[in-house]
Amino acid sequence: MIYFGKENVFHLSTNNTSYIFRASDAGKPESLYYGKRIREAEDYSFIFDRHSRGVGTMTSYSKKSGNLNLDTLPMEYSTYGKGDYRYPAMQLKYEDGCFTTDFHFVKAEKVLKPSLKGLPSSYGDSETLCVTLEDKSIGAVLEMYYSVFEEANVITRSVRLINNSDKLIRINSILSMQLDLPMGPDYTMLTFDGSWANERNKHEKKLYHGEYSVGSINGTSSNRHNPFFAIKEDDATEFSGNCYGFNLVYSGNHIARVEVSNHGITRIQNGINPFEFEWHLKSGEAFDAPEAVLTFSADGLNGMSQNMHTFVRENIVRGEWKYKERPILVNNWEATYFSFNEKKILEIAKAGKELGAEMFVLDDGWFGKRNNDKSSLGDWYVNKKKLPGGIDGLAKKINQLGLKFGLWVEPEMVSPDSDLYRAHPDWAIKTDHYEPSEGRNQLILDLTREDVRNYVLNTLIDVLRYGNIEYIKWDMNRMFSDVFSHRKGSKAGEIFHRYVMGLYEILDSLTAKFPHVLFESCSSGGNRFDLGMFCYMPQCWTSDNTDSLDRVSIQTGTSYGYPQTVMGMHVACSPSHSTMRQSNIENRFNVACFGVLGYELDVTQLNKFDRAAVKKQIEFYKAHRSLFQFGTFYRIGDFFKDETAKWMVVSKDKTEAAMGYFVDRVRPNRGNDVIKFVGLDETFKYRLTNRVQFLNLKTFGGIVNSSPLPIKFDVDDGKVYDFICNTVKLTTEKENRFVYGDALMNAGFKAGQFTIAPGGDARLLLDTESRIYMLKKEQ
Ligand code: DGJ
Repeated sequence: MIYFGKENVFHLSTNNTSYIFRASDAGKPESLYYGKRIREAEDYSFIFDRHSRGVGTMTSYSKKSGNLNLDTLPMEYSTYGKGDYRYPAMQLKYEDGCFTTDFHFVKAEKVLKPSLKGLPSSYGDSETLCVTLEDKSIGAVLEMYYSVFEEANVITRSVRLINNSDKLIRINSILSMQLDLPMGPDYTMLTFDGSWANERNKHEKKLYHGEYSVGSINGTSSNRHNPFFAIKEDDATEFSGNCYGFNLVYSGNHIARVEVSNHGITRIQNGINPFEFEWHLKSGEAFDAPEAVLTFSADGLNGMSQNMHTFVRENIVRGEWKYKERPILVNNWEATYFSFNEKKILEIAKAGKELGAEMFVLDDGWFGKRNNDKSSLGDWYVNKKKLPGGIDGLAKKINQLGLKFGLWVEPEMVSPDSDLYRAHPDWAIKTDHYEPSEGRNQLILDLTREDVRNYVLNTLIDVLRYGNIEYIKWDMNRMFSDVFSHRKGSKAGEIFHRYVMGLYEILDSLTAKFPHVLFESCSSGGNRFDLGMFCYMPQCWTSDNTDSLDRVSIQTGTSYGYPQTVMGMHVACSPSHSTMRQSNIENRFNVACFGVLGYELDVTQLNKFDRAAVKKQIEFYKAHRSLFQFGTFYRIGDFFKDETAKWMVVSKDKTEAAMGYFVDRVRPNRGNDVIKFVGLDETFKYRLTNRVQFLNLKTFGGIVNSSPLPIKFDVDDGKVYDFICNTVKLTTEKENRFVYGDALMNAGFKAGQFTIAPGGDARLLLDTESRIYMLKKEQ
């Protein structure tokens, strides 16, 4: 709801939050309050800034405005030159070199949510306020948009700068939002940082005076620092306290900046990274900054995350797949890498089908002469040596097996060793001065050029018509270097942003043309895991790291800003190709099933034991898929600190829930573990069970020989031992209780002690292992 108060106060409220600001007497947009919902009021002057006296070295804003100095004013958006010495949200430069800017309030009105030029944005039920400011002396208008998403408890913001003068305005920086939290509480910032195969590690920084920023200048939203970040009051926890979350609907260079000023005001900003950004705004033109997303929760970090999850699910992800359960796929990448032929692919697909999978995805290596990563990107014609029947022939055979067929592409790239590059060397991003640096032996196509965009789009349309393709994995495997465009009229400071807009233009057309196709985005895993991509593709490959222990922390980190619906999670090989860590098949599944499940290993090579386990896993997942993919997600405990981590998903009506329980390292003789559940209905009575897992006899090594039936390990070169281990299927403990929700959430349930031997009432849980507890209302 948008409420217009007296004295130009605007009170935006969602179900649980209030966001209040005003146009101050001096015409400046003044931040007043963002937090727990409060009542609309007649008079808000009790929270107006009280610039009672000017002091010392401060700069008085104007003769007319008395003691007002902008440096101490909490502001909704700021520029440089009139006494605010904190980092500005916008920096403009005029033809004569002047870089002072001074915008004033003109009007505020409810409007339709604008669509942003060249950029995707959120959609759905919302109200929008447009606040117009003007700098008359330069002839520029700034429109600040606020959209209110009541259900998700989200406010989105964006700004549009319009050049009404007859001169050029250079935009050196135009951030999407600024929020100045007034003095008072102390804050901690949470950022989600990492690198390839090590994405979104949570880092907490206590904020002190000064400026702290994270962002990317590598051309994508990056695995270095995700655009999602949070600010919490120091004492807030996962379940209590005031927390703010921020994100950006953008896939390129971004910045998240927080500055605690010398007067104790905490300034928060995000937007396009100003690094090497310079937009030439000609007379009559407008520039739209990407949409920023803000949320607040008084219920701790889980509350904040759940707001973001609702928003991503309801207001970002769109199209046919929005609410559809996603298919269980088998992907051949870690099974074969580049070396496969049709026979091998069909064997994998057939084995996948027998296990219960629903889709087969052919990964990299099906085109040109791509037998390794050194060539062929850009040459999107089928390698007939590997696939004599082409994609069509293969897709038909896969469909005949009863599976959907999906395909990998990496359309933004070109290999220097490709026909495309030989024909159009100037289509790659590179300078005339240096030999271009390569990333994974490839260069980036210059999507700022219309001819390149047309080529990429038309090629993709052709590829999608190669056969019955129902899923596309859109990969992007390098960062930018040698940034320069050979486009006529190109301006260096515009390339990064024009590239992102070029990409969005292609994605817009392609996804509209193929609405039934499920698109999964990927950038060496999570190098472009952002809301911009989720506007086109409802899921993303979370990380190339498929080690289940690492995945617990990667998926936990990701969950702060994103729902499990958008996270691709695969059961992969053991030892893991990322870490060489061993992990049993049941455990790998437990971690992968809390999102969009797939299998990425050579399923033809599974032993009898693992095959039986996988069959049961898939049956289990299918029976609870909607809960795992769309349930309300909770984190319990802090896997970055504690020895166990727990996740919970709870159905909307609270009749069904699941808890994943993940152990970091086993410590013997720990005593009873009390497991408390969250998010249940206090009055419902739940059947509490666990997913009973198979236990391989091999787990016990020589201990089995203390049993009455000793096994000789070396008979027939160990074949007899292998046979026994594959055939005998021990199971983990079985839980079966019938308990009220209030008891489960408060008293908890005492799980069996950790032990090293199966049977009895104890839990055999080894290092990095896990359990899934299920709750079902029964009454
Ligand atoms: C990187 C992706 O993240 C992998 O899953 C795989 O598709 C490879 N690229 C293929 O080259």
